[in-house]
Amino acid sequence: MSEVVLAYSGGLDTSVCIPLLKERYGFDKIVTVLVDVGQPRSDIERGNRRAKQLADEHYVIDAREEFVRDYIFPLIKANGSYEGYVLGTAIARPLIAMKTALIAKEKGIKNLAHGCTGRGNDQLRFEAIFRATDCRVIAPMRELDLAREWEIDYAREHGIEVAVTRDKPWSIDENIWSRSIEGGKLEDPYFEPPEEIYGWTQKPDASKSAQIVEIGFSQGVPVSLDGAQMSGIELIEKLNLIGGEHGVGRTDMVEDRVLGLKARENYEHPAATILLAAHKDLEHLVLSRSELRFKVMVDEAWSELAYMGLVEDPLYSDLNAFLDQSQKRVNGSVKMKLYCGNAIPVGRQSPDALYAQDMVSFDSQTLSQKDAEGFAKYHGFQARLLKIKGLKST
Ligand code: ARG
Repeated sequence: MSEVVLAYSGGLDTSVCIPLLKERYGFDKIVTVLVDVGQPRSDIERGNRRAKQLADEHYVIDAREEFVRDYIFPLIKANGSYEGYVLGTAIARPLIAMKTALIAKEKGIKNLAHGCTGRGNDQLRFEAIFRATDCRVIAPMRELDLAREWEIDYAREHGIEVAVTRDKPWSIDENIWSRSIEGGKLEDPYFEPPEEIYGWTQKPDASKSAQIVEIGFSQGVPVSLDGAQMSGIELIEKLNLIGGEHGVGRTDMVEDRVLGLKARENYEHPAATILLAAHKDLEHLVLSRSELRFKVMVDEAWSELAYMGLVEDPLYSDLNAFLDQSQKRVNGSVKMKLYCGNAIPVGRQSPDALYAQDMVSFDSQTLSQKDAEGFAKYHGFQARLLKIKGLKST
């Protein structure tokens, strides 16, 4: 019997993959794996319903805790962002792929499938993991070069209820960290997104009064909200709701995909925006200037690998080791003001602050100002030498 394990979201593409894997590829048994990374309950339920109808065996794996601990926390330590956006879809893909591959291994199945198209990044992220196994990799969407219209008809023929319509043709990807909206008229980068694409955030409203939230960090990881300790999952869920009410965390951008295609992307990510801004702010209170300067490069390299889904590249764990070490003093809390689409740090404190109020204060005499005089004499020395010697700088 020929069997295949499919990474399954319950959405249109992966649902269409099930009959395709039977009819076009001749598999007799389709095993679906739905990995819970914090997408809405209703998506998971829809996936379970469709899998029951279409697949031969179905698994749901709750990977939320692992996702937060092993992917989101490192991302926060790295101030992870790609071209200015917080990274959401990218960091969930490797874990989804790994969980899917694990089921295949446990069941001794040698075929792995995903529902990604040949245009995006997700195919690369899945296959970076899948191809490290001894399985054959199948990508029906890419291999059969299917268009959305065709898929919709094919789905209907196979009794798959389709929520996508001509008026609401959005392709949505969600996990606990971010929500991405693509497709339809949004593919015109000049077209302003209608309010209806947003599911997590309210329209920023200047008449709504500001709200302050205080985020506590321990070793670079957020651990409390307004003084109350809580799990990462709870903290992120709460901040998504609170931030969403203030319209915090919307991104509308043109993004460079790994393949080189530019794509118009819309995202929502209130908790991510708040936590990353707070974390970065706290780092500036506790890390040395040289640590901060160097860490920007590490953050950039980490983000690039994360975007590409290359979490099995040895550099990724090398960078994580540096990040863990660098975060040992990133303890304390940051007050964030949420107002009209913004999340602004307005106060920070830390037991590990490199800040010395007694030395920096306008009112202090702890340091002798005169000591700076020698330093100041040498500052810009070579530029002055040029003038003294009558040399031209161009
Ligand atoms: N462009 C983003 C990324 O590559 C988001 C992709 C969203 N994926 C999706 N299947 N809707 O990270």
